Amino acid sequence: MKHTYRAATFTFIVGGMLIIAGLFMLTNVPTVQAQDAPAPTGDDSYCLVCHGQPGQSYTLADGSSIDLSVDPTVIAQSVHGDQNESGALGCVDCHGDSAFPHNQTKPATARLLTIQSSAACTTCHEDQTADMVDSVHYRALLNGNQTAATCTDCHGAHNVQKPDEPREQTSTTCRECHQVVFAEYETSVHGEALYKGDANAPTCTDCHGVHGIQNPTNALFRNRSPELCATCHADAEMMAQYDISTNVFDSYLTDFHGSTVALFEQQDPNVATNKAVCFDCHGVHDIARADDDKSRVVRQKLLETCQSCHPGATSDFPDAWVGHFPPTIESHPLMFIVNLFYAIVIPVTIGGMLLLVATDVFRRIRTRLRGG
Ligand code: HEC
Ligand code: HEC
Ligand code: HEC
Ligand code: HEC
Ligand code: HEC
Ligand code: HEC
Ligand code: HEC
Ligand code: HEC
Ligand code: HEC
Repeated sequence: MKHTYRAATFTFIVGGMLIIAGLFMLTNVPTVQAQDAPAPTGDDSYCLVCHGQPGQSYTLADGSSIDLSVDPTVIAQSVHGDQNESGALGCVDCHGDSAFPHNQTKPATARLLTIQSSAACTTCHEDQTADMVDSVHYRALLNGNQTAATCTDCHGAHNVQKPDEPREQTSTTCRECHQVVFAEYETSVHGEALYKGDANAPTCTDCHGVHGIQNPTNALFRNRSPELCATCHADAEMMAQYDISTNVFDSYLTDFHGSTVALFEQQDPNVATNKAVCFDCHGVHDIARADDDKSRVVRQKLLETCQSCHPGATSDFPDAWVGHFPPTIESHPLMFIVNLFYAIVIPVTIGGMLLLVATDVFRRIRTRLRGG
C-alpha cells in the first residue's frame, strides 16, 4: 500500500518534472524511478579525469559560460561527503550512470541547467520533494516562472551544507530572491532578535513552512494567522523572558475583531473576513515593539492604523478599544470605574437578594415550626 502510494507520488513528481522539461523544451531530464532512496555508491568514476582539470568552461546556446572544473574537496566537505552516515556520494549518484558520454542535448541557458539539474536531488529526498510539489515555488516553475526556487537555489549543488545551521541561515536563504521582504524583516523586532542569535525569534520558515510553502495572501492564511502568532505569543514561558504580555491572544479573541475571525475560522476558514487580524494592526514583516516610534500601534500612529478600516474614525476612536490589557485607573479611568462599579454593584445586588430570600425562607420555616 505504502509502495503504491509512493509509486503514485513519484509518477506525479516525475510527470511534473517532465512537464517542466516539456515547457522548456528540454530533452535530457534525469529519469527518476519509483524506489526507496538509493544508497550512495561513492562512484566518481573517470569523471575527474576531465572535470578535475582547472580552468575549463563551456558555452551554452545563449552565450552563458559554464564552469566545468569541479573541486572534489568541496563535495567531500559537504553533507554528502565523508561525514555522510550513509557514505560519501560520487558524481554518478547525482548525475546518473549514463552522464558520460555527453551526447544529450544541452539546455539553452544556465538557468535551465540549474532547474533541470535539481531533479538529481529528488531520487534520494522523497519527503522534501513530495512537499515541494505542492508549493508556490514549484507551481510557479510549472507555470513558466523560471525565477522561482528549486532545490539547488536554496541548498547549492556541490556545496550542500546543513540548511539550518546557524538557525538564521534559513532566513538568509530566502534573502537571495525576496529582498524587499527581507529588508523589512531584518529590521523588525523579530529579524533583529534572530540575527542577534535569539532562538525564539521566528524565521521565514516558522511562518511559511519550508518545502511546501503556500500562498500567504489568501483568506485561509489570514484567518489562521492569529493562531500562528499565538504559537509563541500565548507561550507564557517564552514571553516571560521578554516581559511581553501573553494576554494579547486571549484579549484579541474576546474583542469584536477576534471573536468574529475565530468564528469564521471554525465555520469556513476559506471565507474572507474584513475584521482586523494581528498583522493589520502590527504589520507583517516590519513588526516593531509596541512602544517603538516605527510601530503602527504606537499612540501617535494608532488612529491612522484604525482609519485604514474605519475611515471616519476621529482622534478619540482608538480609546473605544481598550487594547490587550484590562483597563486600569491610569489608562482608561472611566472604563475602569464603570468596570469597578459593576464589579461591586452586581455581587452586592445579587448577594443582597439572596440574603433577602434566605432570611424570608428562614422566617417562614420558623413560623411554621412554632405554629405546628
Ligand atoms: C573526456 C572528458 C570528460 C569526461 C570523462 C567527463 N566529462 Fe563531463 N564534460 C566534458 C566536457 C568537454 C563538457 C562540456 C559539454 C560537452 O562538451 O558536451 C562536459 C560537461 C559536463 C556537464 C555539464 C553539461 C551537461 O551535460 O549537463 C556535466 C554535469 C558533466 N559534464 C558531468 C560529468 C560526469 C558526471 C562525468 C563522469 C560520469 C563526466 N562529466 C565525464 C568532459 C568530460
Ligand atoms: C549532490 C549531487 C551532486 C554530486 C555528488 C555531484 N554533482 Fe555535479 N552538479 C549537481 C547539480 C545539481 C548541478 C547543477 C548546478 C547548477 O547549475 O545550478 C551540477 C553541475 C555540475 C557541472 C556543471 C557545472 C555547473 O556549474 O553547472 C559539472 C561539470 C558537474 N556537476 C560535475 C560533477 C562531477 C565531476 C562530480 C563528481 C566529482 C559531481 N558533479 C558531483 C549535483 C551533483
Ligand atoms: C544518492 C542519494 C542522494 C542524492 C542524489 C542527494 N542526496 Fe542529499 N543526502 C543524502 C543522504 C544519505 C544524506 C544524509 C542523511 C540525511 O540527512 O538525510 C543527505 C543529506 C542532505 C542534506 C542535509 C540534511 C540535514 O538535515 O543535515 C541536504 C540539505 C541535502 N542532502 C540536500 C540535497 C540536495 C540539494 C541534493 C541535490 C543537489 C541532494 N541532497 C542529493 C543522499 C542524497
Ligand atoms: C525555498 C528554499 C528551499 C527549497 C526550494 C528547497 N529547500 Fe530543502 N530546506 C530548506 C531549508 C530552509 C531547510 C532547513 C529546514 C528547516 O528550516 O526546517 C531545508 C531542509 C532540507 C533537508 C533537511 C531535512 C529537512 O527536511 O529538514 C533536505 C534533505 C532538503 N531540504 C532537501 C531538499 C530537496 C531535495 C529540495 C528540492 C526538491 C529542496 N530541499 C528544496 C530550503 C529549501
Ligand atoms: C531562487 C529564488 C527564490 C528563493 C531562494 C526563494 N523564493 Fe519564494 N518565491 C520566488 C518567486 C519567483 C516567487 C513567485 C512565485 C509566483 O509566481 O507566484 C516566490 C513566491 C514565494 C511566496 C508566495 C508569495 C505570494 O505572493 O504568493 C512565499 C510565501 C515565498 N516565496 C517564501 C519564500 C521563503 C520563505 C523562502 C526561503 C525559505 C523563499 N521563498 C526562497 C523565488 C524564490
Ligand atoms: C511572523 C510571521 C512571518 C514571518 C517571520 C515572515 N512572514 Fe512572510 N508573511 C506572513 C504573513 C502573515 C503574510 C501575509 C500578509 C498579507 O496577507 O498581507 C506574509 C506574506 C509574505 C509574502 C507574500 C506577500 C509579500 O509581501 O510579498 C512573501 C513573499 C513572504 N511573506 C516572504 C517571507 C520571507 C522571505 C520571510 C523572511 C525574510 C518572511 N516572509 C517572514 C508572515 C510572516
Ligand atoms: C516563533 C515565535 C514567534 C512567532 C511565530 C511570532 N512572534 Fe512576535 N515575537 C517573538 C519574540 C521572541 C519576540 C521578542 C523579541 C525581542 O523583544 O527581542 C516577539 C516580539 C513581538 C512584538 C513586540 C512586542 C513588544 O512590544 O515588545 C510584537 C508586536 C509581535 N512579536 C507580534 C507578532 C505577530 C503579530 C505575530 C504573527 C504575525 C508574531 N509576533 C509571531 C516570537 C514570535
Ligand atoms: C482590517 C480592518 C480593521 C482594522 C485595522 C481595525 N478594525 Fe475595528 N472593525 C473592523 C470591522 C470590519 C468591524 C465590524 C464593523 C461592523 O460590524 O459594522 C470592526 C469593529 C470595531 C468596533 C466595534 C464598533 C463598530 O464600529 O462596529 C470597534 C470599537 C473597533 N472596530 C475599533 C477599532 C480600533 C480602535 C482599531 C485600531 C486600533 C480598529 N478597530 C482597527 C475592521 C478593522
Ligand atoms: C485592533 C488592533 C490590534 C490587533 C488586532 C492586535 N493588536 Fe496587538 N497591540 C495593539 C496595540 C494598540 C498595542 C499597544 C497597546 C496595548 O498593549 O494594548 C498592542 C500591543 C501588542 C503587544 C505588546 C504587548 C506588551 O506586553 O507590550 C504584542 C506582543 C501584541 N500586541 C501582539 C498581538 C497579537 C499576537 C495579536 C493577534 C492575536 C494582536 N496583537 C492583535 C493593537 C492590536
